[in-house]
Amino acid sequence: MNKFDFITKQLEELKNTNLLREPACIDSAQGTTVRIDGHDKILFCSNNYLNLANHPKIIEATTEAMKKYGHGSGASRLISGTMRPHVELEKELATLLGKEAALIFPSGWMANEAVIRSIPQKGDLLVLDKLDHASIIDAAKGSDAEFRTYRRGSHERLEKFLADDNYNRKFIITESIFSMDGDTADLETLIELKNKYNAFLIVDEAHAFGCLGENGAGLAEKSGVLDEVDIIVVTMSKAMGSTGGAVAAKRQVIDLLINKARSFIYTTAPTVASCAAAMAAMEIARQEPDRRKKLKQNAEYLHTKLNQLGLNTGSSESHIIPVIIGGEKETLTVSKGLYEMGFFIPAIRPPTVAAGTARLRISIQSEHTKEQMDSLCAGFEKLIEKGVLPTSK
Ligand SMILES: Cc1ncc(COP(=O)(O)O)c(C=O)c1O
Repeated sequence: MNKFDFITKQLEELKNTNLLREPACIDSAQGTTVRIDGHDKILFCSNNYLNLANHPKIIEATTEAMKKYGHGSGASRLISGTMRPHVELEKELATLLGKEAALIFPSGWMANEAVIRSIPQKGDLLVLDKLDHASIIDAAKGSDAEFRTYRRGSHERLEKFLADDNYNRKFIITESIFSMDGDTADLETLIELKNKYNAFLIVDEAHAFGCLGENGAGLAEKSGVLDEVDIIVVTMSKAMGSTGGAVAAKRQVIDLLINKARSFIYTTAPTVASCAAAMAAMEIARQEPDRRKKLKQNAEYLHTKLNQLGLNTGSSESHIIPVIIGGEKETLTVSKGLYEMGFFIPAIRPPTVAAGTARLRISIQSEHTKEQMDSLCAGFEKLIEKGVLPTSK
């Protein structure tokens, strides 16, 4: 008996149930195409929504920052790791998100963890959308507060939790664009309820930051409710083409995070290169609204074409479009078939999504061309004809 057998057994179990995951290795920059296994593949699964990850201005900004500050930040923020680009980025983020202050983290995951584990206290209640991102769910599990979940649209259940007098404070936590379904939160109703019950509203704008709103601040900006959201979480690692997360809120919220959030205090400061990249990206996102317009047009175009094919795109209303297939094995077959035809879209399976809803999660980029989207649809059509991809037709 080898002491590692319990690990091998788990991996075998994952393989036997079509749930084993392996990362593909990319040999190029992120664009609408990438090089994998010596071939160019059209990329339909990247969160590089505005095509900024490889933008020349971002490369220039990071290079300049590194020439001045080097690469490693050397220590955590409260020791000697805070450098001018961190402070400048936080100021810019606070301005863009319309809040008194902002705080950056090495990742969006850590930003969610910081907020959810530091701000709500014992005796408080967190009310989460059932499909909130794993970083929100895991942080809620580790919080001193209790948590409950509601299904999107089930406002009676949400209201029942908010009306419960057994808790000191209540926090509603939602994504704005949901990462696996591409639908959006009903911020207006959440705000109505949070005001009615004097609750807090925390919105994770990970997939909307850069993509929605006049300045790219996200869904809250687009909906004209930035002031009504108490705490905004964003990530610079998707549309902004960099890495790192951030929280924007009132000054005292940020000061408490600086003093209490373990994912802020006990980790090395983000690199100045990632800060410079995010600064440059925010500037481009603000100055080039056309990127958002093209992203929206592309999403609408592909949506229509996929629906014409009879594919199940669920409730998507954004640049994230799932093609819901159901079974894990079937989804892997479709993903592999598309890969062989020159498209890269891995299968998304449980536990990332609920059992029976395995899917291809297509994410659109502003620079995808009609030809690329048409050829993807032609690929889907071939798989439908082969009988490996179910449709509603
Ligand atoms: C909704 C949501 N929040 C937070 C994160 C975490 O962001 P990051 O990749 O910067 O850690 C992600 C994705 O990774 C996400 O989809």
